[in-house]
Amino acid sequence: MHPESIATEVLKVDADAPEAAAIARAAGVIRRGGLVAFPTETVYGLGADALNASAVGRIFTAKGRPANNPIIVHVADVTEMDRVAQRTALANRLVERFWPGPLTLVLSKRESVPDAVTAGGPTVAVRAPDHPVAHALISAAGVPIAAPSANRSTEISPTRAEHVLKGLRGRIEMVLDGGPTPAGLESTVLDVSTDPPRLLRPGPVSVEEIEAVIGPIMRTAATRTDAPLPSPGMLPRHYAPRAPLECLPYAEGIRRVEELAASGSRVGLVAMGAPALAEDRGIVAIEMPAAPDRYAARLYAALHALDDAGVDRIVVELPPDTDEWLAVRDRLRRASA
Ligand code: TXA
Ligand code: MG
Repeated sequence: MHPESIATEVLKVDADAPEAAAIARAAGVIRRGGLVAFPTETVYGLGADALNASAVGRIFTAKGRPANNPIIVHVADVTEMDRVAQRTALANRLVERFWPGPLTLVLSKRESVPDAVTAGGPTVAVRAPDHPVAHALISAAGVPIAAPSANRSTEISPTRAEHVLKGLRGRIEMVLDGGPTPAGLESTVLDVSTDPPRLLRPGPVSVEEIEAVIGPIMRTAATRTDAPLPSPGMLPRHYAPRAPLECLPYAEGIRRVEELAASGSRVGLVAMGAPALAEDRGIVAIEMPAAPDRYAARLYAALHALDDAGVDRIVVELPPDTDEWLAVRDRLRRASA
């Protein structure tokens, strides 16, 4: 069957107190091997029964995701985590401090986990989301839920149900619309199967918070703040809007925007506070908050809005090179690749 031939049902749910009837229907879809997009505290996930290999296979088809990219398993609590992963003393300390929440742990997997979830590898990534809708869905389904972000592969992650529908309408059975997601950036991914643990993706739980619990961790080159932002084309494109995106310090960014607009481009600008533009020239300017967590919550919605506005170039004011901006800079770096 062609993946675009499914009727996608959209069910609105109360983000704080999701309606039991809607959750029961969504859980039924999961149990029958279907795909349900649902809100978490980070971004919307595209969920399938993690223990059903063919259901997980459908995630890859719907997203156009390469089969070598493993998927995070979402659990209701630590008891459910024990069904898919082997807990360690170190993992216990992190779970006690950060779960439910936006910290994903990579651990040795159990045999019940299909190869499709782990891309054939010996480890599995697990997290317990801190969102009433996600929690209710996982509990009602009675199975752990495998869920990547609910976007087409390489595109921007969804922070609203409308973003999910732009990419996946006709390819999945259901979307639970619980409104905008609060954190707005994907979870921190920490590999605790190695010694010392290794940061694979910076996110809402910071390195500093993790190190306060378990001591020093390793950062991969791609997740350090001192790693230079590469020139376009150097990294695999990911989390990216349609239009080419460049990151520049404020004054340089303004000059670049005016130069691009003067040469006839329709330009989008993402800046902290109101940018001082000489002339308007159809520039679509989006003002962002100067606090990193509030900026993170709105970044993807800003990039989706610029895609929708049909701009052909995007310039983003480069945020400060400090640890609190690590996750935002990581996503901007990938978006500009
Ligand atoms: O906040 C989030 O993490 C969201 C929500 C839906 O929970 N999910 C998400 O999933 O961002 P995804 O698939 O877009 O990103 C998962 C990341 C990928 O970079 C993947 O390579 C990595 O986690 N990952 C998954 N399993 C892994 C494993 N066993 N070992 C190493 N990395 C893994
Ligand atoms: Mg993703």
